[in-house]
Amino acid sequence: MTEANVTAAKSEAGAVPENWKPHIVALVCNWCSYAGADMAGTTRREYPANVRMMRFPCTGRMSPLMILRAFEQGADGVLVSGCHPGDCHYVQGNLVARRRFTIFRSLMDFIGVDLKRLHFAWVSAAEGHKWAKVVSEVTTSVQEAGPLPSFEHPEGWGGIDLPEMTGSGPQELDEQRLDAIRANLRKAASEVLTTERAGVVIGYGSGSLPDQTHPVLITKTAECEKLEWGQGCRNNLGAYVGSALEKHERVAVVAKTCDLGAISGLIREGQLRRDQLLVIGVQCPGVRDGSGLATKCLSCSGDPHPICDLVVTVEGVQESCEDPSAAALDTPDARDEQIAYLESLPHEERWQYWQRQFGRCLRCYACRAACPLCYCSTCITDKHRPQWVPTSIDHPGNSTWNIIRAVHLAGRCTGCDECARVCPADIRLDLINRKLSLEVERQYGKIGLDPEEKSALVDFRMEDSEEFIL
Ligand code: FES
Repeated sequence: MTEANVTAAKSEAGAVPENWKPHIVALVCNWCSYAGADMAGTTRREYPANVRMMRFPCTGRMSPLMILRAFEQGADGVLVSGCHPGDCHYVQGNLVARRRFTIFRSLMDFIGVDLKRLHFAWVSAAEGHKWAKVVSEVTTSVQEAGPLPSFEHPEGWGGIDLPEMTGSGPQELDEQRLDAIRANLRKAASEVLTTERAGVVIGYGSGSLPDQTHPVLITKTAECEKLEWGQGCRNNLGAYVGSALEKHERVAVVAKTCDLGAISGLIREGQLRRDQLLVIGVQCPGVRDGSGLATKCLSCSGDPHPICDLVVTVEGVQESCEDPSAAALDTPDARDEQIAYLESLPHEERWQYWQRQFGRCLRCYACRAACPLCYCSTCITDKHRPQWVPTSIDHPGNSTWNIIRAVHLAGRCTGCDECARVCPADIRLDLINRKLSLEVERQYGKIGLDPEEKSALVDFRMEDSEEFIL
């Protein structure tokens, strides 16, 4: 069957053509699984001929993007295989990959990919018999799952009514209290500049509309009166610190509770140095998103965090130097019920839901621009040789982009939800981010605000769970 025929066959919902055989792509490590497959051949083991192999130096080199590409280009199933833990020729490549695949697998399940299509196996160079067995099992499993559903996005906007989100959010602050916070913030910023604790203060200035603000860089004490505070302070100012440091030795940044995670993340990943920063945490009234409190605020206390150098509240300004390791992001979250609801749906419905969501993507990359932790000098989606992510706004590049963006932030995203807020197509990126954060937390512990802590997905433990690996 030609590729065009395969695609046509897949677009007929539920119809499995007669004599249909699954296409399976196997990503294998050169040193063990490829040699294992070779051994299966030289020892004349018989196994199904549905698998096409791609050889990599190590499972650590295999990006989830390669799995996505395989699906996008017509594979019905993917097998990833490498050396057993402890046997990796690059010592820990497969151990780090194991965590990455664990989280990627849960994401694929969440967006509606039947896990009968995605398999992982450890196969050594001496295990020709195991390779033959694994390929037979994987082929049977993919055969059961049937042809991969089409990447084409269905008609319509939402398709599924998610449960309404509830939560009270941070303590409400009337205009009088906000005025008090504003005055204290201006005083704190002025003192920071006068005493030369920082050369610039990044904060919010008033925008052109009544409840809007925009980021401002204040370098003179007289300008501190421009600093604003209220429910219109939406941007995550952590995204502006890097460029401010190009001109100033030390930067002060005004931060809401949700922004502090990004600042910690940037320190943790070596993008900022703690001694270059002065963090001014401010008591937050929650930010407005359209007519109501933003989703991210529904479960947040709005309290400033121990990582702050200065804390601004209604009462005044205080120095803070408590232990940041005690910190962690707030859980549970108002969105958890929506995630649980989506997870209760059959794979096909989830797939349709997310294909509708991704189908709306305009590829404006506003999500990337707003994210403080998207700092690569050239994003994978801008690379053309090879072009990993098709850039036109039709499918399947849209799905690949939105999935890989989430994968790159897994274990790093600190839930500021700027990506979802700025998305002009209202794609529920926040649900995907939240789902991945929950999964990372369930598997490897909390994503905290401690800048000294290693990100979960660049770390490993020998005893990490691998119950899904054959
Ligand atoms: Fe085989 Fe790393 S070399 S998994």
